[in-house]
Amino acid sequence: EICKGVNDLDKVVLRGLRGSSAEVYLYGCHVTSWKNNHDEELLFLSSKAIFKPPKAIRGGIPICFPQFGSHGNLEQHGFVRNRFWSIDSSPPPPTVSCNKAFVDLIFKPSEEDLKIWPYSYEFRLRITIGPGGDLMLTSRIKNTDGRPFSFTFAYRTYFSISDISEVRIEGLETLDYLDNLKSRERFTEQCDAITFESEVDRIYLETPTKIAILDHEKKQTFVLRKDGLPDAVVWNPWEKKAKSMMDFGDDEYKHMLCVEAAAIEKAITLKPGEEWKARMYLSVVPSCYRSGQ
Ligand code: BG6
Repeated sequence: EICKGVNDLDKVVLRGLRGSSAEVYLYGCHVTSWKNNHDEELLFLSSKAIFKPPKAIRGGIPICFPQFGSHGNLEQHGFVRNRFWSIDSSPPPPTVSCNKAFVDLIFKPSEEDLKIWPYSYEFRLRITIGPGGDLMLTSRIKNTDGRPFSFTFAYRTYFSISDISEVRIEGLETLDYLDNLKSRERFTEQCDAITFESEVDRIYLETPTKIAILDHEKKQTFVLRKDGLPDAVVWNPWEKKAKSMMDFGDDEYKHMLCVEAAAIEKAITLKPGEEWKARMYLSVVPSCYRSGQ
């Protein structure tokens, strides 16, 4: 179902079973809402989000491609998050399973985009709501150029949380990370679980395929699973940075946490004709769950 969202922008509304749903803006192929039942929004979306080019929507799941962050010549986090995508008229075949709602979007660079990054490719993204209300994003990037190219990538997910002081992440302990707040210097995580008391902006390297975000107050745990994406970014801007962002409320940092399935440290290289596939799978479970189970 396609309808009009904020600022008359086109959005697709996916409806799954038992009131689960997701909303995807064609602008950025940006998931702005995910509910696993009628009542509860699971993604953070800023009350100050700007739904207008050239700014990416603040919250939800922006797609960072072909460059994560500001290491490189392109604008921060690349440009597909602030381009208009289309409904894919020749999508990949659906996986055999019932009770799934999905939409396929596609992005192909325009003449203007090719001036910024001179490679042609087809970027297909399928967004699926599973029978249990789980959300899955599957990206396929095909090199349609005559030359190889390399890129970095992230599904930048803004999870909605009760309060940043009530949340911890399991699955990243003992790993190495690059600290974006210290010019990507490399450190090793010493904590048993990651908790938050100041700005965090880190790229954890070669992480397990499963990461858990436990919200003590809400008594619920987000489970993030990923394929083809070795790294995981953890970001919270905290108070000072929050105040400096015009499309983000001063106190909103308390209610969001970005945990991102990513490929950053080792760029992905695609030869002509090659296709790369990467998947992120999000679910939410009651908190008696432990990430090791
Ligand atoms: C982080 C950067 O990855 O993303 C920060 O290290 C930046 O510097 C943040 O503020 C948000 O980026 P953007 O482009 O979505 O405002």
